[in-house]
Amino acid sequence: MLREIELKRGLKDVYIDKTMVSFIDGQVGKLLYRGYNIRDLAEKSSFEETTYLLLYGTLPTRRELEEFDATLRSNRSLPKEVVQIIRLVHKAHPMDVLRTAVSAMAAFDPETRDNSLEATRRKGIRLTAQAPTIVAAHSRIRQGLEPISPNPKLNHAANFLHMLFGKEPPDDETEIIDKDFVLHAEHGINASAFGARVAASTASDFHSAVVAGIGILKGPAHGGAAEEVMKMALDIGEEDRSKEYARKILDSGGRIMGFGHRVYKTVDPRSIHLREEVQALGEKKGQPKWFRILSKVEEVMRPYAGRGIFVNVDFFSGTIYHLLDIPQDLFVSIFAMGRIPGWTVQVMEQYSDNILLRPMLEYVGPMDLEYVPIDQRG
Ligand SMILES: CC(C)(COP(=O)(O)OP(=O)(O)OC[C@H]1O[C@@H](n2cnc3c(N)ncnc32)[C@H](O)[C@@H]1OP(=O)(O)O)[C@@H](O)C(=O)NCCC(=O)NCCS
Repeated sequence: MLREIELKRGLKDVYIDKTMVSFIDGQVGKLLYRGYNIRDLAEKSSFEETTYLLLYGTLPTRRELEEFDATLRSNRSLPKEVVQIIRLVHKAHPMDVLRTAVSAMAAFDPETRDNSLEATRRKGIRLTAQAPTIVAAHSRIRQGLEPISPNPKLNHAANFLHMLFGKEPPDDETEIIDKDFVLHAEHGINASAFGARVAASTASDFHSAVVAGIGILKGPAHGGAAEEVMKMALDIGEEDRSKEYARKILDSGGRIMGFGHRVYKTVDPRSIHLREEVQALGEKKGQPKWFRILSKVEEVMRPYAGRGIFVNVDFFSGTIYHLLDIPQDLFVSIFAMGRIPGWTVQVMEQYSDNILLRPMLEYVGPMDLEYVPIDQRG
């Protein structure tokens, strides 16, 4: 007699370990990185400082931050072979290109085989610095343009926009992208971080874990939702069509992308900051309609609050990128660039007290069938 099995499909509400990195209270919409509220970090910190906080566990002194920032700035270049690989695969989706390039980076990183915490942190810092160069280089190459070299005078966010568009961005646009990176930097054991941890749990290397994370983030149930939200907004086109459009999706059993979350059963705290940015940036760019379209969709979704379905981080981020003239298929890559510190620290935690992550499946198929030789099968 088999023992009774308690299935936890989708690992819903299952705790698999302890963490010192992020605290999430999905009932009240609270998110802390290393004890600090995302609200404060979004308003007062920078991506560089937040990355330091995540990777070292404390806020840096001014001197520590300067040194850390200098390390990031000096590690942005890519090996020429990786640029060649990007050229070879340039027709693929930007996330596939990012995944391939990160995988190739393992061949050039001096510490690929060293899984010590210090080496993993150093690899994470290098990859954090290099990921925007990969994404921007691919974006240029696929337009028939040459990649633009990183500019060490610019901060992480400004340098990305510079490499993408070939001109220095205005300060307010740099600040928006910087805030977006801060908000996306880490989020506990979400699907991609879990995938990265599974890879690390076999004592596989850091790059393999990040490659797993990128592949998982790409899905529309995870990071791919921002792109879908913008597609929806473009498809709606005019504010007065929003409600009917959203209702039609819901009536046919579909989902509104950018709503719902496995953990948040209230408004995703990250979305609050992005919401303000969409509104302000839309006004500045003379395109207030996107915010109005999204607000109408939110109105249709209001009754879903009773079922714990609220707006999430992806509902507004795509519109910000759109307003900054970033192509839709780059949206999830921007999420991935921001998330590298999070994947790094999750992998470090996994290595630091490792246990193989290996759940079970309940078998429900036929049992003990008789093997029939191939020439006797009907
Ligand atoms: C994120 C998500 C996968 C979480 O899902 P989950 O915790 O596994 O919850 P489920 O998929 O079981 O959904 C629970 C119920 O809410 C409904 N629901 C969830 N998200 C919904 C949405 N965005 N629009 C409409 N209904 C939704 C489901 O249809 C389901 O209804 P049912 O119980 O009548 O079948 C889900 O909310 C979703 O698909 N959202 C849209 C994609 C998205 O924005 N992803 C980014 C997340 S940051």
